[in-house]
Amino acid sequence: MIEKINQALADAERRAGEAADAAAVEQLRIDYLGRNGLFPAISREMGQVPPEERRETGCAFNAGRGKIQELIENAAARLKAAGSGSGDAIDLTLPGRRWKAGHKHPITMLADECVAVFRRMGFIVAEGPEIEDIYHNFDALNTPADHPSRDPQDTFYFADGRILRTQTSPVQIRVMESHQPPVRIVAPGRVFRRDTPDATHGMNFHQIEGLYVDRGVSMADLKSVLQTFATEMYGPKVKIRLRPHFFPFTEPSVEYDFSCIMCGGKGCPVCKHSGWIEIAGAGMVDPAVFANVGYDPEEWTGFAFGMGIERLAMLRYRIPDLRLLYENDVRFLEQF
Ligand code: PHE
Repeated sequence: MIEKINQALADAERRAGEAADAAAVEQLRIDYLGRNGLFPAISREMGQVPPEERRETGCAFNAGRGKIQELIENAAARLKAAGSGSGDAIDLTLPGRRWKAGHKHPITMLADECVAVFRRMGFIVAEGPEIEDIYHNFDALNTPADHPSRDPQDTFYFADGRILRTQTSPVQIRVMESHQPPVRIVAPGRVFRRDTPDATHGMNFHQIEGLYVDRGVSMADLKSVLQTFATEMYGPKVKIRLRPHFFPFTEPSVEYDFSCIMCGGKGCPVCKHSGWIEIAGAGMVDPAVFANVGYDPEEWTGFAFGMGIERLAMLRYRIPDLRLLYENDVRFLEQF
């Protein structure tokens, strides 16, 4: 009897595998489990099994019937998944669903654009760490220990004394430490300051730093590079203006403005009716900085500048509030 059950199982397994439609599966059920099927017939013969074999035979019978039920269910599920029998196969004529790919963030787009402009002027891209040491962020940049920018109220300090860089200027130092002049680099990147966020300030923002060191570099070269940058980014009508300023690592130092891109210099709320928009700081590299990296200040001169990328993006895309750039609202980001 056990022999018979095993044989039935093997046959059923083969037929379940071969079943090509719902009717074949139903026939399988009828043949094995239906009223006149094999298993009910075996069940009726059970009485003739000698009592000492009955236990073992009963077990085989139950296991076999369970197994056949499983085979039938699996075969039915397989057919359903394939869509056969019900007639609703995949409609190949339907248009596909397009995968919605994102795009670069406006900050990244603008940084890329700046880099492209500077590359055309012969600058290459340099990078430095966002977690910086005090030497590269301040000391090597000729910034004294009591300078207000070093205050923990303005700078994020780690317990081990390192900091989140407050500017991209430490990249100047890292480049000059590892390369001999001439040097012509731009360094875009993220910087951090303990500011209270408002429409024009954030705790982290982006700068693009520039450094040009060679023989006989002058302020005129700085001006022409900045003017070329302004024209390339915002069109031929934009003028630049330099104002005296102070940075520990440049001498002389300037802040520079672009004529207002919104009103063309006539005066509007964006430029606070002055006709000019402050863009960044710049200056001639201080000889003390050259001394810190082992360049001879008698032989080499250079200029450096650093501008805020958010500021440039706000002007370019007419974004009224810097915080919009960080909220990651897709309705905002989709516009670029
Ligand atoms: N690092 C300065 C700042 O963050 C900007 C700057 C860079 C000024 C290079 C001069 C030269 O304000």
